[in-house]
Amino acid sequence: MTRPAATAAETDFHERMHAAHMYGLWELASQMTRHPEPKAIPYMWKASVLDAMVLEAGEAVPVGEERRALQLFNPGLDGRWATTNTMIAAVQLLLPGEVARAHRHTPTAIRFIMEGKGAYTAVDGERVYMAPGDLILTPSWAWHDHGNETEKPVVWMDGLDVPLVQALNAMFFQFYTEPQVPLSKPNNASVRLHGHVSLTPTWVKERPLSSPLLLYSWEKTWQSLGELRDVAGDDYDGVALEYTHPQTGRALLPTMGCWVQMLRPGARLKAHRHTGSAVYYVVQGTGETIIDGARFAWERGDIITLPSWALHEHTNLSTQDAAILFSIQDRPVLEALGLYREEELTENGGHQAVTSTF
Ligand SMILES: [Fe+2]
Ligand SMILES: [Fe+2]
Repeated sequence: MTRPAATAAETDFHERMHAAHMYGLWELASQMTRHPEPKAIPYMWKASVLDAMVLEAGEAVPVGEERRALQLFNPGLDGRWATTNTMIAAVQLLLPGEVARAHRHTPTAIRFIMEGKGAYTAVDGERVYMAPGDLILTPSWAWHDHGNETEKPVVWMDGLDVPLVQALNAMFFQFYTEPQVPLSKPNNASVRLHGHVSLTPTWVKERPLSSPLLLYSWEKTWQSLGELRDVAGDDYDGVALEYTHPQTGRALLPTMGCWVQMLRPGARLKAHRHTGSAVYYVVQGTGETIIDGARFAWERGDIITLPSWALHEHTNLSTQDAAILFSIQDRPVLEALGLYREEELTENGGHQAVTSTF
């Protein structure tokens, strides 16, 4: 139904209303979309590009006041500091002998170690040592610095809820007075205290919102995945495991969830969509993910961003080896606010038609 052309009186009314900082709901109806229409787009940063840029950053940029971290900007978000609408992912390099000075901020951070062993993140006076595949947490407002006393560079993926914290106008940031916070706890203390499957220390009365376990080692993750080798898992996500808060069993961070998922050799999963966004890092394997009809062929080291409500389906292209994806997701926020929704694709046996290739 087309509206009749506006009369002079109508136009005049609208102009005066806008000048008074008011809009009619009738002017905004198109923003009440039938379903989410994110501006963020699906996109992939190839490992070859990431590796080359990271290497160059090591030569071109010193670690100064700020970290040497390459922030992955979603091309759909007009230069916003954001990989998805709510999260930023980055790739960070710390060279032998370097220290990234201590600071704290309200955004919560995770690190997923891509390369290098034996460097550390110090969180509130506790050094957490890194090995490839480890997941390390830096909860909101925890002091943290990074150090590399090894002979080799260390590279990791950062995941932070910066865009969400910005949207909520809750950003606080502080430098520590010294380059590093004095150590007050033994190395990897949180693992000794909280890193026991189904065994929680009863004398610890605090129940922080963020997991008190700061290190989820690849060794344990790998062992769990290995034990599930013959399990099919979910039709849409395969053998998907969520890292959990050891005291509550819930998401490990209030604003971000972390998953590791194994696609068995030859697995072709079905398409679904849900509210909330994700960033995937390919830990190992070769495969493809079709996102809203676009085919993203991935291999080890690639990083892929998935917007909210985009249809997606994963396939492991190898019939010999498992593929493993690590991801950060904002699902805990959606769930806490009652906004999480999920829908499967029913047509075409649950598979999308491929309309383009990234
Ligand atoms: Fe930080
Ligand atoms: Fe999904």
